[in-house]
Amino acid sequence: MRVLSGIQPSGGMHLGNYLGAIRKFVELQHQYDCHFCVVDMHAITVWQDPAKLREQTFHIAAAYLGAGVDPEKAIVFHQSGVHAHAELAWIFNCVARLGWLDRMTQFKDKAGKDKQRASVGLYTYPVLQAADILVYKATHVPVGDDQKQHLELSRDIAAKFNHDFDAENFFPQTEPLIKGPGARIMSLRDGSKKMSKSDPSENACVFLADDADTIMKKIKKAKTDPEPLPSELDGLKDRPETANLVGIYAALSGRTDEEILREFAGKGFGVFKPALADLVVEKISPIGGEMRRLEADPAYLQKIMTAGAERAGIIADQTVKEVKEIVGFLA
Ligand code: TYM
Repeated sequence: MRVLSGIQPSGGMHLGNYLGAIRKFVELQHQYDCHFCVVDMHAITVWQDPAKLREQTFHIAAAYLGAGVDPEKAIVFHQSGVHAHAELAWIFNCVARLGWLDRMTQFKDKAGKDKQRASVGLYTYPVLQAADILVYKATHVPVGDDQKQHLELSRDIAAKFNHDFDAENFFPQTEPLIKGPGARIMSLRDGSKKMSKSDPSENACVFLADDADTIMKKIKKAKTDPEPLPSELDGLKDRPETANLVGIYAALSGRTDEEILREFAGKGFGVFKPALADLVVEKISPIGGEMRRLEADPAYLQKIMTAGAERAGIIADQTVKEVKEIVGFLA
């Protein structure tokens, strides 16, 4: 079993990234062969200031390590450090169909109304993602719920490649690892929008790097309604902000939504929010502290990533070599 996942260095790491992805990485590294990359080539599908991109690449690496990914166990690297990703992505560009990419909702969201002005890279973004995964023949990909459609595309590309080139089972049908608490954390300001680093409201996200006071303030300001917490799950229907806060509490405490409701049933947010804020600070602050320590030493992070890229490159180069032969390229 092989695991691969990636995060874009395009903004601060938040609670959604942690619960939907990074926390799973930490668990999986003990059982599987894991590859965790910082997908800098995906980040430049929209404009990135070069100095900031470098800084943010270190930020994501620091989040991986700060949360507990062990670079001795898992391979931690930067995507651009392994050229095989781009090579395979080109071949996959010739396998994937325009119609498949036209259905991708993330492109529609990110390109906005004026899609003529979006980069070509933004359009073929999911093809590069499929290359990230399949260049390691990864069997499992831990991600949040928003990546479901991209992972389906990766399966379609794998199947079409295997079929077109008569290479049965060459690429695996990768399984997404999405389920579980925290797969879809919503904005603290609007329960219908996912928590996102590009949200214009600074109170929408708890960032892993936020200090304890900031976390407390953001949780206290989180949008809620005037009703006390219900005793049953049914009572969370039509209360998206409340459901989100209960979900965050459950995910961070390792308990179920039902258990949290049993504990807080009938209590108001004057009781629930401080308890949630304490829990978020308890779980997140140590990671933020470790991230700050690591980010102060970019040379160390660079060393980890370079070594990781070298290890990853050996596996990825082998796949590309086989693919070139299958496709009919000269050696
Ligand atoms: P990105 O950088 O947007 O997000 C990184 C990871 O965090 C998860 N996530 C969330 N989970 C729960 N609630 C949220 N509000 C939330 N917001 C983000 C994402 O699902 C993701 O797991 N396309 C990918 C990066 C990528 C990739 C890959 C992932 C490139 N190549 C190969 C897996 C395998 C992305 O933009 O993630």
